[in-house]
Amino acid sequence: MKRAAASTMKFPEMDSMQDYRKYLKEVLISAEELQKRIAELGVEISRDYADAQRLLLICILRGGVLFLTDLMRHITVPHAVDFMAISSYGVGNRQSDGHVRITLDLTADIRSRDVLIVEDIIDSGNTIASVLELLSTRKPASLQVCTLLDKAERREVEVPIRYSGFIIPNKFVFGYGLDLDEYFRNLPFIGVVDLDKYQVK
Ligand code: IMP
Ligand code: MG
Repeated sequence: MKRAAASTMKFPEMDSMQDYRKYLKEVLISAEELQKRIAELGVEISRDYADAQRLLLICILRGGVLFLTDLMRHITVPHAVDFMAISSYGVGNRQSDGHVRITLDLTADIRSRDVLIVEDIIDSGNTIASVLELLSTRKPASLQVCTLLDKAERREVEVPIRYSGFIIPNKFVFGYGLDLDEYFRNLPFIGVVDLDKYQVK
């Protein structure tokens, strides 16, 4: 339904966040590059999981959602999807000390299943390391990680990454699932935040 009045509606909390271009320093990965690489990952995953045991893709909310939905369109082997949300303890959203709390648990039982975690970005590695530790106690047949972005130079703990879309420099990025104060996840590209205009917490 189309309402003419909708375009004049005001969202007060958006006033200071109206235009992503204000916070964008540069486009790091274009929509076309993202889609091309994601298609390649889908082909690779489909090949590797040709004989999978009830493959389950686990998306970590919320950043991984766009990646998951695009990636699964390129996965040709039968698979299910499930979601979990975690909150990491640490300073702001920039640092994580490796202690995670599950705020939304999986619906699926992962025992004896091939499990592939779909993540938006791996930075220090602390978050994914503790997710791996936690999920491995549930005895999946296999447990692997697929991340769209890898800030490899920031790594503090070694984590096994089976599939990686792009290795990126140590810059704070947003778009394509990654947010600035929960906004702009819908952007089809990955952009670098202009730190003169946006204070990363
Ligand atoms: P790690 O535990 O240090 O690997 O942190 C991973 C989490 O930090 C990601 O799931 C993101 O929520 C967040 N993060 C790290 N770098 C960025 C970034 O450049 N933009 C947005 N979020 C980021
Ligand atoms: Mg995240």
